[in-house]
Amino acid sequence: DVELSLRPKTLDEYIGQEKVKENMNIFIQAAKGRGEALDHVLLYGPPGLGKTTLSNIIANEMNVNIRVTSGPAIEKPGDLAALLTNLNQNDILFIDEIHRLSRAVEEVLYPAMEDYALDIIIGKGPSARSIRIDLPHFTLIGATTRAGQLTSPLRDRFGMLQRLELYTVEELSTIVKRSAGILEIPCDEKGAYELARRSRGTPRIANRLLKRVRDFAQVMGDGVITEDIAAIALNRMEIDALGLDSIDRRMLTAIIRNFGGGPVGVDTLAASVGEEAITLEDVYEPYLMQLGFLSRTPRGRCATRLAYEHLGLSVPKDASLPK
Ligand code: ADE
Repeated sequence: DVELSLRPKTLDEYIGQEKVKENMNIFIQAAKGRGEALDHVLLYGPPGLGKTTLSNIIANEMNVNIRVTSGPAIEKPGDLAALLTNLNQNDILFIDEIHRLSRAVEEVLYPAMEDYALDIIIGKGPSARSIRIDLPHFTLIGATTRAGQLTSPLRDRFGMLQRLELYTVEELSTIVKRSAGILEIPCDEKGAYELARRSRGTPRIANRLLKRVRDFAQVMGDGVITEDIAAIALNRMEIDALGLDSIDRRMLTAIIRNFGGGPVGVDTLAASVGEEAITLEDVYEPYLMQLGFLSRTPRGRCATRLAYEHLGLSVPKDASLPK
């Protein structure tokens, strides 16, 4: 599977997230040295930064099996009980979108994480009693777009909270060149850089755009991804020089034109651009804030001077721009 083979298998192959990598390497070596399960890990950060990839790498480096599931897929406490009782010693259970677990399922997770135990209630009413089943020592890796969405009892049961950051253009360029090599797509240095510059800090986007730009290179050029081909292809896909797509631009334009540059509440803004507030917060805002185009204030979102300049709009004299 080509899609899977783009994913690095070892920490050494994994590009970027240097702090997370260095620390995880220590924790993995230490747990392995003691022959223990790794403590539970919470990975959080914007989508597409490699939380699933990193979890698979951790399993590979620990030489253990990984079971992959997601918050919404675990509907009942019994679903989670089935997953937990089927693990082997030191195995990893990966729960993507862990903030979407139901309350009832979360309750089962607490003793499982803390004591490697499953509390099962037998019977109903006054004769009901609880029995405790021992579980193998396992590692829970939870992934979420925002740690703030987790309940604190759940968050507190993770031994490591690792925040993944948006990638630099240099890191993304290295990832693009690596992926191009694997997919046997001819891509020169400047072509890779142009693609990286427009991938909004996100490897998943870089890898997707690489395939689309290859299509343009093949049909409109000689098959090689150059700076020119990349720029032409990405412009055609309405991705601008900094990687903003039409939704990013609609957000900024709405703040500026409809709300005087802000502050505007995220729900109002979401209604105005026809997206969900949570999507704006998780997917769009992190990159706009990294670019310095958007600021979050207690009273709402504001467009910055840089945003006006990027969109080619003049800043009104009376605009109350954030500093
Ligand atoms: N592909 C996607 N993310 C990657 C990363 N961080 N390193 C290497 N290849 C990747």
